[in-house]
Amino acid sequence: HDYDLVVRGGTLASAAEVFEADIGIKDGVIAALGRNLPRGAEEISAKGMIVTPGGLDSHCHVEELGQDGTAQEESFASGSAAALAGGTTSFICFLPQWKGHSLAASAPGYEARAAASRADFSFHQIITDPTPEVLEKEVPALIARGIRSLKVFLTYDPLRLDDRQFIEVLATARKHGAFVTVHCENFDAIGWRIEALLKAGLTDPLQHAWSRPPVVEREATHRAIALAELVDQPIQVFHVSCEEAAGEIAAAKARGLKVWGETCPQYLTLSHDDLVGPDFAGSKAVCSPALRAKGEEERIWKRIQDGTLDVVTSDHCGFSFATQKRVAGSSAYGTGTAAARPDGTPMFNAIPNGVPGIETRLPVLFSEGVSKGRIDLPTFVRLSSANAAKLFGLEGRKGSLAPGADADLVLWNPDAERTIRQADLHHAIDYTPWEGFSAKGWPQVTIRRGEVAVRDGEVLAQPGSGRFLARGPYALARPRGVVPDGFDAASA
Ligand code: URP
Ligand code: ZN
Ligand code: ZN
Ligand code: ZN
Repeated sequence: HDYDLVVRGGTLASAAEVFEADIGIKDGVIAALGRNLPRGAEEISAKGMIVTPGGLDSHCHVEELGQDGTAQEESFASGSAAALAGGTTSFICFLPQWKGHSLAASAPGYEARAAASRADFSFHQIITDPTPEVLEKEVPALIARGIRSLKVFLTYDPLRLDDRQFIEVLATARKHGAFVTVHCENFDAIGWRIEALLKAGLTDPLQHAWSRPPVVEREATHRAIALAELVDQPIQVFHVSCEEAAGEIAAAKARGLKVWGETCPQYLTLSHDDLVGPDFAGSKAVCSPALRAKGEEERIWKRIQDGTLDVVTSDHCGFSFATQKRVAGSSAYGTGTAAARPDGTPMFNAIPNGVPGIETRLPVLFSEGVSKGRIDLPTFVRLSSANAAKLFGLEGRKGSLAPGADADLVLWNPDAERTIRQADLHHAIDYTPWEGFSAKGWPQVTIRRGEVAVRDGEVLAQPGSGRFLARGPYALARPRGVVPDGFDAASA
């Protein structure tokens, strides 16, 4: 046979167009597209199905290592099973840095743990302590190993950088051809609001949102963009939750800056209403930036439609309700150890931040986006994989149906009606914020590098079958060559 596998008779959706073709796969790679391809060793019928590239979730937290020596509950084996079941064939998660530690000392054994993944994977390096040693030696060594993106936080006490530190990270990234992603919220503004809320006795999960209103995100987004412009370094603003922040990105793009935006299904479907409920249920939806007042979701959809927001990731960051969300804890993604309330639940500021969504990301986006007519199929492909591949140095390899690309494919049944239920999901977390959500359109088969990884909800890919994606230099991460007064401080 010419092909190991032929996916026959589907309606294909790429980042640019929708067309009918068979897909011939050889050695895990797309070898040919065309009508009436010769028989492969194996055949899959895609009749009545929509075939898209496998999802690339460029922002998720999997088995992340905390400074206390514990790993997040979502393991590479469980998180990658969930990813594949939801149509995501690759993801990028995070190497931590603990303040006061080198990069090497901050993630002992993390890359070995990642080898258990069933989906392909890469890493962003979090920088919390940009010492000269880290910037001049460790970051270049990391980039040489194919880890070409950094994440910085402008908030969270254990993680945040001040402006000078942020500038130093931007300049280092520029020097070595890395890309920078930024969590944009104003730390001091949040701290001031938290203190006042607690003093007023307002301690419920909803007050998490009150502690960090849109203006706090807008200010930090504006600042991050301005400092990136100062250094001439391309950036992506992570998890945009509101029009105020999206507007900053739109203005930057209009001025020709290399700035991109990300949002997540939670900001497209959930709101303050989900932060309120009996038995502390509102904690299930606590994430940062926070969910916004009802109605903001439609403004985020508009920013997807006008091209301001380039990717939809999960920002999967799972903390089980019974053991973590409901219990005053010590996650880095929270303020930590504030006193518990009389009933043992944490004050809003000690709820670990993050929602689980690696499996539901694409079904929710397909249903709310494609099935409801908010976006067309090529836009869905750009948001779910193709743009992330461009942004993170995987273009041509991931997020593409062109010959030569990895044969990562999802066969969608566009008519399948499903109710999202925790019991059907593959993640290790004990709840989903989309419990009871009605979805139209569901991934029926997921193919990862030419192998059937999931069929009808059954995960067939084994732990360890995923591969590390090393990333080389790429044009998108290069500077524009525009600096104030023509003086390039970053290369002086
Ligand atoms: O609440 C969130 N988003 N938790 C994950 C950490 C982050 O900021 O991305
Ligand atoms: Zn053969
Ligand atoms: Zn973040
Ligand atoms: Zn995150």
